[in-house]
Amino acid sequence: MRVIKSIKEMQNLANEAKKAGKRISFVPTMGALHKGHLELISEGRKRGDLLVVSIFVNPTQFGPNEDFNRYPRDIEGDLKKAREMGVDVVFTPTIEEMYPEGFQTYVEVSKLQNHLCGIFRHGHFRGVATVVLKLFNIVKPDVAIFGEKDYQQLKIIQRMVKDLNLEIEIVGFPIVREEDGLACSSRNSYLSHEDKECASTIYRALQEMKIEFERGQLSAREITEKGKRILKRAGIEEIDYIEVCDPETLESKQKATRGDIVAVAVRIKGVRLIDNIKL
Ligand code: PAF
Repeated sequence: MRVIKSIKEMQNLANEAKKAGKRISFVPTMGALHKGHLELISEGRKRGDLLVVSIFVNPTQFGPNEDFNRYPRDIEGDLKKAREMGVDVVFTPTIEEMYPEGFQTYVEVSKLQNHLCGIFRHGHFRGVATVVLKLFNIVKPDVAIFGEKDYQQLKIIQRMVKDLNLEIEIVGFPIVREEDGLACSSRNSYLSHEDKECASTIYRALQEMKIEFERGQLSAREITEKGKRILKRAGIEEIDYIEVCDPETLESKQKATRGDIVAVAVRIKGVRLIDNIKL
């Protein structure tokens, strides 16, 4: 496995691979690799000849009061896991390499970013779209895999790829969960055992909301009120949002229909967790 820090070196390697007719698959990550990432990597392994994983904690997608500094980092552990998964290249640039002095070009997917997390994390998706486009230009993938836990991120990347005519297939991979249902996330490592138990209610609430819909409840308000009650009973008071939304536009719905997404973001002792389910 090669570990590359330089953009030029990564681009040269990608160019050589392409010349040799190889299909490049790509899994972008911020490291602290968990079971969810490993599933994305395994999917990437199946879909390409040269599998590249990036590890870069991207400062431009964190707000000034967010957890950039304390975001979990474990490069040695990550490299070990990547090696075991048969990754060909880990691209792990420094901040200076990605954002040298004078950097000032950003990408915004204007409407999709104005819903759900975009309302609570101002500038977050601008940072995500920008870094992902940069990574695409560096790694030159034919296919890239993103987890569906970050559903809005996935939709924004798909939109950007379409709007900017990038020749990259974007694959959404189903949410990977812990045994208790909690969606895998690097941020789960902030949670104590007790907080984790509380956090497992998020998925239970989503499942209950889906059951409510399947029983014939179409009012988004009734559905989400039920979810809120379940969360609050478990002691989760800080709910950023809990919404039934259109799976493509992410617009909030009043009347739920099959295929809609119920998306939720909560904070447990300051740790922000998101999850979603398809109706
Ligand atoms: O989902 C993530 O880990 C990040 O948002 C991504 C896509 C790697 C961009 O920094």
